[in-house]
Amino acid sequence: MPVWTCPFCSFAYDESEPDAGSGMEVPLPFDDHPADWVCPDCGALKDDFKKVEEAN
Ligand SMILES: [Fe+2]
Repeated sequence: MPVWTCPFCSFAYDESEPDAGSGMEVPLPFDDHPADWVCPDCGALKDDFKKVEEAN
């Protein structure tokens, strides 16, 4: 599953893990987050996140 990383801090969003910050209990594809979603750690914009394919 893809991982999306914030370019400004160490936050990583793993699409295979529930988003603890959102209160969701199921994994949510990054693209399904609202356009105004921001990094929960530093407030970076969703558009700034970079997609990283997990090696497995
Ligand atoms: Fe961040």
